[in-house]
Amino acid sequence: MKTIWLVGASEGIGRALAIELGKDENNFLILSARSEERLAELSTQIQSKNQSIVLDVSDNSSVAKAWESIKSTGNAVDTIIYCAGYYKPMSSKNIDIQEIEKMIDVNLSGAIRVLKKPIPEFINKKAGHIVLIGSIAGYRGLPNSIGYGASKSGLIHFGENLRCELAQYGIKVQVINPGFVKTRLTDLNNFSMPSIISAEDAAKYILKAMNRNSFESRFPFAFANTLKLISKLPYQLYFKMLGSLLRDRL
Ligand SMILES: NC(=O)c1ccc[n+]([C@@H]2O[C@H](COP(=O)([O-])OP(=O)(O)OC[C@H]3O[C@@H](n4cnc5c(N)ncnc54)[C@H](OP(=O)(O)O)[C@@H]3O)[C@@H](O)[C@H]2O)c1
Repeated sequence: MKTIWLVGASEGIGRALAIELGKDENNFLILSARSEERLAELSTQIQSKNQSIVLDVSDNSSVAKAWESIKSTGNAVDTIIYCAGYYKPMSSKNIDIQEIEKMIDVNLSGAIRVLKKPIPEFINKKAGHIVLIGSIAGYRGLPNSIGYGASKSGLIHFGENLRCELAQYGIKVQVINPGFVKTRLTDLNNFSMPSIISAEDAAKYILKAMNRNSFESRFPFAFANTLKLISKLPYQLYFKMLGSLLRDRL
């Protein structure tokens, strides 16, 4: 039996991932998010054994309480998937500091809060699997992603820190970067989103990536790989290529 703690399970990609992971009866799922009601509803949709633990990743004491609650049941967590996220489209014309702080708090600091306690335990037992759901918006600067892009870039960087330090203990660290996925977050966008996919398809991509050993994965392949490729270019070429790619879309 594998115990998987999925943080950000109540909606969107996390919800679809919970349902997909629940198709394997060898998985025991611990489902976390703020909405108790949504988690309870999700639990009824999941085939494998599962448990819900409400937590707010932006609150240190809530995260600590959730971890204590997991420990008190005697469950040894094998895999942690950090899928909690917050997004507000933001351009240089409508900067909102509070929203930026919230994005950084949920998308980056929240991941660090959640992983702080489990990491020493993974090190002690020389095993564990950490999956961070990032975004292709974290590769390089993109329009309309002030705050969000920085938070995801920071999350990718955090994943790199962990990968460098934890591989020696046999701990697998992965960052999986989605392109556009139809959820309540992308419903806020008023621009056309290339290659947008459903949360169910995103969940399938994530499961496949988790079964591989690569540190970083992205999807959907054509769009995400194009962005990855151009993100490797020198600035002058990067901004030129990005301009042509996004022309008429913004
Ligand atoms: N949709 C996309 O196109 C896209 C693209 C790239 C990356 N991503 C990333 O994929 C992840 C999932 O996004 P999504 O589109 O599925 O968004 P979503 O539908 O809004 O789901 C976000 C999840 O995070 C949880 N969450 C938010 N704030 C939280 C908090 N303070 N404490 C605990 N849980 C919290 C939400 O649950 P509660 O509200 O119940 O707390 C929900 O379960 C995010 O990291 C997002 O940045 C999404």
